[in-house]
Amino acid sequence: MDLAYINDFSVRLGLPFDSDRVPQHVAIVMDGNGRWAKQRGQERNVGHRRGVEALENVVIGCRKLGVRYLTVYAFSTENWSRPKAEISTLMSLLSEFADKKLARLKANQVRVQVIGDFAGLPMLQRLALRRLLDETANEQELVLNLALNYGGRADILQAVKQAALQLAPDKLQAMTEADFAGFLQTAGQPDPDLLIRTSGELRLSNFLLWQLAYAEFYFTDTLWPDFDEAELFRAICAYQKRSRRFGAVVEV
Ligand code: IPE
Ligand code: IPE
Ligand code: MG
Repeated sequence: MDLAYINDFSVRLGLPFDSDRVPQHVAIVMDGNGRWAKQRGQERNVGHRRGVEALENVVIGCRKLGVRYLTVYAFSTENWSRPKAEISTLMSLLSEFADKKLARLKANQVRVQVIGDFAGLPMLQRLALRRLLDETANEQELVLNLALNYGGRADILQAVKQAALQLAPDKLQAMTEADFAGFLQTAGQPDPDLLIRTSGELRLSNFLLWQLAYAEFYFTDTLWPDFDEAELFRAICAYQKRSRRFGAVVEV
């Protein structure tokens, strides 16, 4: 946590920040790259490139605000239905991100992990990612989960299959929700406290279906390439004003 950074944003934006109520885990659906580019009369790919820059800034911002886990939706299982050329740009940007940002991520003590069907990614991307994951494996400040070739239903389904294969019938019968969560790809991590989706779309698009059960949702019309550290700060301040009840009665 960087108190000078927090204080600076707090003054600039006129928003109080409670260092004791920072969401431990933030999840983001990074949406609106295509529209951002179109608004500027440019190719969708230009938006994707700017989107990677936005991601880099948001990772650093999370680190400074004291967030411990950040999960970003970068490519869904449904995104394979996009035009081949767009998929290929997204994949190139992914390996470029892995290669070029490794040093900066490491310097910021960010540990990168992938959730999603890793084996279904192209070879070049798997190699670049493998290096990024291995080289940052010991970093401790922030876990960055890249959701790649990820679908919430696919995650639940693979967890069901693994549990059924690994557990004897009596253990399967006795399995708790916490035990089951240990088979999801986010095993060992707290559930997201805050979900952010940019670009004005009000849906989950198959993201973290199990894990978002009690997350606070924050939607903004800002398109992902324009989502910067100030926007992140605003989202977290909005989260801090929410009353999380988890089904119980909270006296005010
Ligand atoms: C999000 O931006 C990036 C990915 C899905 C990879 P979009 O590409 O979905 O942008 P819009 O929604 O078409 O504007
Ligand atoms: C969700 O965005 C997936 C990612 C951000 C990677 P989409 O743009 O693919 O979602 P829909 O199609 O609008 O639901
Ligand atoms: Mg979209």
